[in-house]
Amino acid sequence: MSVRRILLGVTGGVAAYKSAELVRLWIKAGHEVTVVMSEAACRFVTPLTFQALSGRPVYTTLWDDRPQNGMAHIDLSRAADVFVIAPATADCLARLAQGRCDDLITTLAAARTCPLVVAPAMNRQMWENPPNLRNVRQLIEDGVTVFGPGTGSQACGETGPGRMLEPEEIAERLEGFFTPKRLAGKRVLLTAGPTFEPIDAVRGITNTSSGKMGYALARACRDAGAQVTLVSGPTGMPAPVEVSRIDVQTAQDMHHAVLSQVVNADIFIGVAAVADYHVVNKSEQKLKKTGKAPVIELAENPDILATVASLPAAPFCVGFAAESHNLLDFAEAKRRRKNVPLLVANLAQQAMGADANEVTLLDDAGIHPLPVMGKDAVAHAIVRHLASLIETSTIPSERTTE
Ligand code: CTP
Repeated sequence: MSVRRILLGVTGGVAAYKSAELVRLWIKAGHEVTVVMSEAACRFVTPLTFQALSGRPVYTTLWDDRPQNGMAHIDLSRAADVFVIAPATADCLARLAQGRCDDLITTLAAARTCPLVVAPAMNRQMWENPPNLRNVRQLIEDGVTVFGPGTGSQACGETGPGRMLEPEEIAERLEGFFTPKRLAGKRVLLTAGPTFEPIDAVRGITNTSSGKMGYALARACRDAGAQVTLVSGPTGMPAPVEVSRIDVQTAQDMHHAVLSQVVNADIFIGVAAVADYHVVNKSEQKLKKTGKAPVIELAENPDILATVASLPAAPFCVGFAAESHNLLDFAEAKRRRKNVPLLVANLAQQAMGADANEVTLLDDAGIHPLPVMGKDAVAHAIVRHLASLIETSTIPSERTTE
């Protein structure tokens, strides 16, 4: 993921405290963040908080003489890749819509050469106030991107639209904002996480897959412009924003869910660590100790990826191979056996449950090793490779899109 220079404008709403977390998330992701605050925002959170989190000076007035050899009201937004105003109050939106330049934030917005994103935050009545909605429409028409607002309980005690999106969601949407839309118009179906094969009412067979890689790929495909459906085994992970998720437990449930969705897919990515076997003699009740060890009888589960790849109108298929040894030989054999054009090989003991991963991509052209990276970065690299293969492949264009 590339480093972005983010200019964050904080205006005076209660949600200003959430912007501190937003800065922390961006800094953690490796971005450079410079914070500009309105006078009212300084009443909610101190500039010192943002200075400590961003590691940079915070600007609060048009009359700041700190920027050397330049003018703060122009230089700050000229040096940025994006200007995000979060929270953006109703008053800020009104002044932006009018093109006014009566404080540092609105002046920077007017003088900017980079995209402007606003995350509104206000009481629901204020949000639904016709002049406010008119201002938002005007800003969208002017090319401003609006993130949110969310709906829910508000600081004023009311419930409805107007809440600022949570920092994680703003950070996630900004990553998407920058990703080239190389999968625009494509429908992607993914499996992720482990499966759980019951032995009795409370016990079962599963594995240590966390779902992190599959969820990261779902987000990366969405960020690249695809419409994404995620069939997920039990992970406890929150559904990615703007991804439709189908929750399943067993391999057979996952198989059914995938087959019911696959006619709508241009691309299928099997990331799930599907259990190879299910328990034939499972008990509906909790098994009691009898003094004799129970015998668990296993039968093989369907191979979801191989089934999808063998369909007459198969989508473009991507598989994963989790191996403990002989990685590349086993992975290439798996790629050929399952008949998938692209396979992502990784070492099971290194990948499962971890935040980072080292993968090698295998396709008809050969072997493409990638460096160790966080799973989000790995996911974006896989999507870039996949997009290149699809751009030169005839498979997706042969499928009809209704
Ligand atoms: N897969 C699947 N259905 C299964 C088993 C695996 O769709 N029943 C998919 C996985 O999602 C992955 C690929 O097949 O994309 C390879 O999975 P992996 O666990 O590495 O291999 P297996 O096919 O289970 O073979 P083995 O256990 O012998 O390595």
